[in-house]
Amino acid sequence: MTITLTINEKKHVISADPSEKLLTVLRKEKLFSVKCGCQKGLCGNCMILLDDNPVPACLVPIGIVRDSKIVTLEYFKNDPCYQDIITGFNQAGIHLCGYCNAGKIFTAYGILKASFRPDKASLYSALRGLAPCCADSDSLAAAIMYAVAAKHTREGRHNAKK
Ligand code: FES
Ligand code: FES
Repeated sequence: MTITLTINEKKHVISADPSEKLLTVLRKEKLFSVKCGCQKGLCGNCMILLDDNPVPACLVPIGIVRDSKIVTLEYFKNDPCYQDIITGFNQAGIHLCGYCNAGKIFTAYGILKASFRPDKASLYSALRGLAPCCADSDSLAAAIMYAVAAKHTREGRHNAKK
């Protein structure tokens, strides 16, 4: 089966079995920020943006993403939100190891995108999609709130209510 989709702003035509997971396809394209972890949707290490929403690539059969837009961490590094998130992580004293970066950064992006002022419940609920690792949930939640503040500062927004 031939599938056309956009990966990191470039059109790709992929020949693959429709049941093949996006995780495998992206790694064949040498996009190694997409890590091969649990392969059950539990650790977040294979996270990508699918039409601007964070999704674990290990759960997505390539056959259902025809004409979709995929962004991996390699390309997301050009997004101004990436720097906001890194600033937040640095301020919280979290130094990502390289293996878990996609899950943590795209989860943070999903939260930044959803609300100007994320509440504690939605923050911790989003973090439940990540495997426990070197950074505990409280530190991650703090990092994301610092990232939210960095985004407000960059965008010149003060006292946002949403
Ligand atoms: S490898 Fe996809 S969530 Fe763990
Ligand atoms: S697994 Fe990457 S910082 Fe813990």
